[in-house]
Amino acid sequence: MNANAIPEQPAVSDAVARFLRRPARLLINGEWVEPHGKSRIAVIDPSTERQIAEAADADDADVDRAVRAARTAFEAGPWRDSLPDEREALMWRLADLLEKHAEELAELESLDNGKPISMARLVDIPGAIGHFRYMAGWASKIDGSTFNTSLRGAPGTKFQTYTVREPVGVVAQIVPWNFPLLMAALKLAPVLATGCTSVLKPAEQTPLTALRLGELILEAGFPPGVVNILTGHGETTGAALVAHPGIDKIAFTGSTEVGKLINIAATPTLKRVSLELGGKSPVIVLPDVDPRTVASGAAQAIFFNSGQVCVAGSRLFVQRKIFDAVLEGVSAVSSSLVLGPGLDERTQMGPLISQEQRDRVLAYLESGREQGAAIVTGGNAPAHAGYYVKPTVIVDVKPDMKIVREEIFGPVVVAQRFDDLDEGAAAANEGPYGLAASIWSNDLRAVQRLVPKIKAGTVWVNCHAMIDPGMPFGGYKQSGFGREQGRAGIELYTEMKSVCMAVQGRGVAG
Ligand code: NAI
Ligand code: MG
Repeated sequence: MNANAIPEQPAVSDAVARFLRRPARLLINGEWVEPHGKSRIAVIDPSTERQIAEAADADDADVDRAVRAARTAFEAGPWRDSLPDEREALMWRLADLLEKHAEELAELESLDNGKPISMARLVDIPGAIGHFRYMAGWASKIDGSTFNTSLRGAPGTKFQTYTVREPVGVVAQIVPWNFPLLMAALKLAPVLATGCTSVLKPAEQTPLTALRLGELILEAGFPPGVVNILTGHGETTGAALVAHPGIDKIAFTGSTEVGKLINIAATPTLKRVSLELGGKSPVIVLPDVDPRTVASGAAQAIFFNSGQVCVAGSRLFVQRKIFDAVLEGVSAVSSSLVLGPGLDERTQMGPLISQEQRDRVLAYLESGREQGAAIVTGGNAPAHAGYYVKPTVIVDVKPDMKIVREEIFGPVVVAQRFDDLDEGAAAANEGPYGLAASIWSNDLRAVQRLVPKIKAGTVWVNCHAMIDPGMPFGGYKQSGFGREQGRAGIELYTEMKSVCMAVQGRGVAG
């Protein structure tokens, strides 16, 4: 690919230009308020490295205000007494508003994150809308059980026992920068369905769509304090939020490193915690498949969103017989991808999120070279403004290399051969992560033998990164715990209460 071919970022629409000029504010208790301190965060367009807006940098006092507002909204007021169909209707209204502003949101997301606008239109915005609509239906379907117990009381005593699910309370929700609006929606949807309240913190790199979402939440008519949005840095705003005693539950998506810190910070008050963390997901290719078809799937699995995907297929394991053919196909896709700025309609792969992330990815490439790996395509950054890294395919790797073990979070795939199924499964299970995996084969028996061996929260067969709000999602091992989405997502945001009533006779204690 010719680095000079990277075009300039097209101009933004009037609607987005207006939004970018908006003053830096926080959403607390249904109002856009001035942050307490003077510090501001520069919002950078990763396609140009230029500042495009300014966001508030919430401090401890802002965090305290937001948590109190969320607490009041949870304990008192209209939200507490809202009926399921009222919450459902509000959620649909919000989803409709997102749909109405879909093009503006896609543009904003592409600008803030660097992803191709075509992808924001296809994946991020419909995905966000889908989470609200899917979870809206659950508001009226949160149920419990009744039990046929053997409890004995004084003669004639009868018991009725049942469970109810109640909202867990005030939730701190911290999301990353790779799918900013989609992650915010994924987090907020179960909060709204169950009757919890939230203080949401978008990533400091990508605050824009969460703020626009905040405007639409107000327009939809949610009561004040149900959703509060604080922009700020992780180490300060995020840490203060996590440590705040007024928080009942923390829901986090991000690095394993920060997930561990959060789990520790949650301990003093035993906050409920759900963590969706890093991954190093294997793409396992069995010998019966057409190498060319699989190659395009495997390329998509790693290069989508510039590889900044928790489930990115960053380790490619191909059965020896077809390794060369698959590798050739993946390399061909890799060298043909059109790199460019987010808003350019022709762009197939955008820049990485930040200078920091580009440096991190380039350092991994350097360590791979030093440890003797061979780079087949890509391997460097084009000499052009914007945090670009070329799509990269690496071979001749060993299991103990950093590039094989650690999450790179960039457009970099390491390819390895295997001989038999057990060896392939063992190699795929190596390392600390267990978020997802894909198997490519039409050999039903081989697939059925492999699926139970894979230690991962999601296993795809002949596809990769297919994520739906109805399908539980989360990790094994150090990829986190808790399952979001589906019924499991509702359970994550509710406490189960057992009720035991002596309904006839004198009753009994103990
Ligand atoms: P990060 O884990 O530091 O950031 C994710 C979110 O956590 C952001 O909102 C950030 O402000 C917040 N945060 C950071 N430190 C915090 C703290 N001490 N307390 C509370 N909140 C905190 O991820 P970062 O530094 O942006 O990226 C580093 C690596 O993490 C990436 O290279 C990638 O490997 C991984 N990552 C994984 C993601 C995933 O989807 N699983 C998403 C983003 C990053
Ligand atoms: Mg970090």
